[in-house]
Amino acid sequence: MIYPIVAYGDPVLKKQAEEIETGTDVKQLVEDMFETMYTASGVGLAAPQIGKAIRLFVMDAKAMDEENEALQHTKKAFINPVIVEETGEKWAFEEGCLSIPGIRAEVYRPAKVKIRYFDTDWNEHVEEYDGLAARVIQHEYDHLEGVLFTDYLSGLKKRLLKNRLTDISKGNVKSDYRMRFPAAARRAGVR
Ligand code: NI
Repeated sequence: MIYPIVAYGDPVLKKQAEEIETGTDVKQLVEDMFETMYTASGVGLAAPQIGKAIRLFVMDAKAMDEENEALQHTKKAFINPVIVEETGEKWAFEEGCLSIPGIRAEVYRPAKVKIRYFDTDWNEHVEEYDGLAARVIQHEYDHLEGVLFTDYLSGLKKRLLKNRLTDISKGNVKSDYRMRFPAAARRAGVR
């Protein structure tokens, strides 16, 4: 099942997501999230982006660079993830987000991340990532904390983007995938 992707401006994107109860079967949900992510040509998708404020995100970063061996095996679901440590020098990368179509901006983040999480069989893992894989993890993890990449931008950059962000929240934006807009949801009485 392909979910519509929640657009910038929806309160679910600003919420701290809730832990998932250990042992909960989320396999179908994870499969649907991958399908939704691939349909939108994304490399990461967090549950709040499909309207669910729970601590789960999926990623598959291989499309970011087919030549990069480290990215070819990054198809994973992260359940109840905890970032244990972020190390290394901060570097800039131009990020985008399926919830904020058409906008990209440079964000500085530490180079390496150590993350603890459960897979869909509820086995625990602790892994370290760097480069683009770390970047995707940091971005998706932020979604579970109610943080968007636009939150890191300078006041000036934010002011420059303000009208476009407002347009997105009103549904005045083109995307190649189905989205759910907060203003439209309110009009329809859906919450
Ligand atoms: Ni995002």
